[in-house]
Amino acid sequence: MDALVSLFHHVRYRYMKPGEEDRVIGLIVEVFKSSVAPQYSPEGVNEFLKYARSDDLLKRSRSDHFILVAQAGRDIIAMIEIKKYHHISLFFVSGPFQRKGIGRTLLKRALKICRDRDPWLREISVNASPNAIGAYSQMGFTSRGPERTVNGIRFFPMTAALRKPPFLSRSPA
Ligand SMILES: CC(C)(COP(=O)(O)OP(=O)(O)OC[C@H]1O[C@@H](n2cnc3c(N)ncnc32)[C@H](O)[C@@H]1OP(=O)(O)O)[C@@H](O)C(=O)NCCC(=O)NCCS
Repeated sequence: MDALVSLFHHVRYRYMKPGEEDRVIGLIVEVFKSSVAPQYSPEGVNEFLKYARSDDLLKRSRSDHFILVAQAGRDIIAMIEIKKYHHISLFFVSGPFQRKGIGRTLLKRALKICRDRDPWLREISVNASPNAIGAYSQMGFTSRGPERTVNGIRFFPMTAALRKPPFLSRSPA
């Protein structure tokens, strides 16, 4: 674990590059199978795996989604996908790197991109899988309704309020 921790000084956060989709999907599927799938029905697992396909990830990244990754050494150890600059559609950190601040940092970087594009953005949303409620709560999200299941995918709608842009918080001269 010490070796892993020392790598943290070299974690880079950046956009996913074309050609990296397979590696990113590999990470997503591995983490999904260990952390999320145990709470899903077989229908939910299949539905998720249909969404987590590398060609579709690339297509989405070329339309109205963006994907950030965290890289340690040569490995991609985490990713976040944001839809239309206001909704988290995928968020995965590799098992050994969880609970070390990497998810929070990725989210912060993603939010900065969203706010730079839309300074008026007031909240960001996510359909949180049951296992991730605790982490999202710690990161400032609150529940926006009861648990729902759509095509076998179980989730809790959550949102996080964003602060006003700095130029709106200034008191008048
Ligand atoms: C959810 C996830 C992306 C968070 O990433 P992470 O790197 O582990 O999160 P961080 O280490 O940055 O932690 C952020 C905060 O959440 C808390 N947290 C993380 N995992 C938690 C858990 N399982 N239960 C409770 N709190 C948790 C941390 O303590 C931290 O709070 P703090 O700063 O107040 O101490 C990651 O755990 C993950 O990939 N989980 C499995 C896949 C998944 O469920 N993705 C979400 C699908 S909607």
